[in-house]
Amino acid sequence: MLTTVLRILIAKRVKPFIFERKDDVSLTYRSPTIGVYVHIPFCRSLCPFCPYYKVLYREEIVERFKSALLKEIEIISSKYRDKGIDSVYFGGGTPALIIDHLPKITSRLRDNFDIKGDFAIELHPLDLTERNLKILKEIGFEMISIGVQSFSKRCLDALGRKEDIQTVKENLSLVKAFNFKTVDIDLIFGIPSQTLETLEEDFRIAVDFGATQISAYPFIDFSFLKNRERSLSKKEKRIMLAQLTKIANSIGFERTSIWTFAKKNSQRYSSITRDNFIGFGPSASSLGDNSFKINTFSLEEYISSLEKKKLPPSLVLEFDIYSRGAYWLFWNSYNLDINRDSFFRLFGIELEEVFYWQLRFGEFLGLLKQYEKGYRLTEKGAYYFHLVEQVYTHKYIDKVWSLQRAKFPPARITI
Ligand SMILES: C[S@@+](CC[C@H](N)C(=O)[O-])C[C@H]1O[C@@H](n2cnc3c(N)ncnc32)[C@H](O)[C@@H]1O
Ligand code: SF4
Repeated sequence: MLTTVLRILIAKRVKPFIFERKDDVSLTYRSPTIGVYVHIPFCRSLCPFCPYYKVLYREEIVERFKSALLKEIEIISSKYRDKGIDSVYFGGGTPALIIDHLPKITSRLRDNFDIKGDFAIELHPLDLTERNLKILKEIGFEMISIGVQSFSKRCLDALGRKEDIQTVKENLSLVKAFNFKTVDIDLIFGIPSQTLETLEEDFRIAVDFGATQISAYPFIDFSFLKNRERSLSKKEKRIMLAQLTKIANSIGFERTSIWTFAKKNSQRYSSITRDNFIGFGPSASSLGDNSFKINTFSLEEYISSLEKKKLPPSLVLEFDIYSRGAYWLFWNSYNLDINRDSFFRLFGIELEEVFYWQLRFGEFLGLLKQYEKGYRLTEKGAYYFHLVEQVYTHKYIDKVWSLQRAKFPPARITI
């Protein structure tokens, strides 16, 4: 219901969005710079709460995956020779499981693209070894994001994570010496059995280990996963989010998005909220001028297409100016800042020409406040956006990903 109302009011669209399966698609980009995301789909074990596309690590498939990825980089980069790359994010999965292959992959990216921005990578706490951190630094990774989730054994048990907390802490203590520009630590709140005290402690421990950013995600119970327990209630999550904001302010961290808090003047770790990006790897998404594309969720299909020198099959959603603008508005609201210049740079048209009365209405409801560069979300706006983002995740991401994971994914998905 809510997503339908927002679709009509903001994307000015009565009919649902339609994704269609297509082969060998590449997108267009007007902007002189683009972001890059590389998805490495291997994990040591599969955590029951995690919706991302991944398979158990198997040595014998890694070589084939790497060749396919290098081929995909080659094919795609040949179409964007004139573009600069302003950020490169490696995510997963657990990219460091193929640490010995990362030098080859990063140098293929550097050889094929004009890379101007930093390299960033997601790490599992068990990836934090001297050797791994040294290699990452040597090949130019300056931003890391560590998926701790919680330092409480009860919470990790509820999530189905088995790592030993003492080991996690010992590993984290290695990080400071490497002087990464950005150290993000991921936490989850609203985990069954979590209390305000354990959450507060999680935040403080993460900062003591040198986190320059804390990403605190509300626990989302995806329909296609087998979580043993339900997440805490909406009200409990509301109290927890308010408490996180309070602790962050008290230690001089700023709220940099609905769910992230960062040290003042530090560089943000943020892979999804970019204006446009190219995704490599199975399940990776790409955002172009007028379309959004999601690569196949089958590792085998991904590899076999690229072995035939073809881009993997993908689901493609075509945008018009309003739905593309709504996508932009969504992620900029997530970042709490709706900036007129940045809208104009991307669309070549004034923000208010496209969303005049929606912005007025947001102000009237006390969700937005104008400032010289555009609009900021108020505290009330941030709370409602936290709710909208979860509804959106359940209605859109949950549906598309669960259908994509099916053995025979449909050729068309309506959302
Ligand atoms: C790709 S995942 C994990 C990266 C890394 N492999 C790890 O396990 O540490 C990125 C982040 O998404 C968050 N996440 C995953 N599943 C979630 C869920 N069901 N609800 C809320 N946050 C979730 C976690 O905080 C996680 O660290
Ligand atoms: S949370 Fe991390 S380690 Fe666990 S399944 Fe997801 S990507 Fe893999």
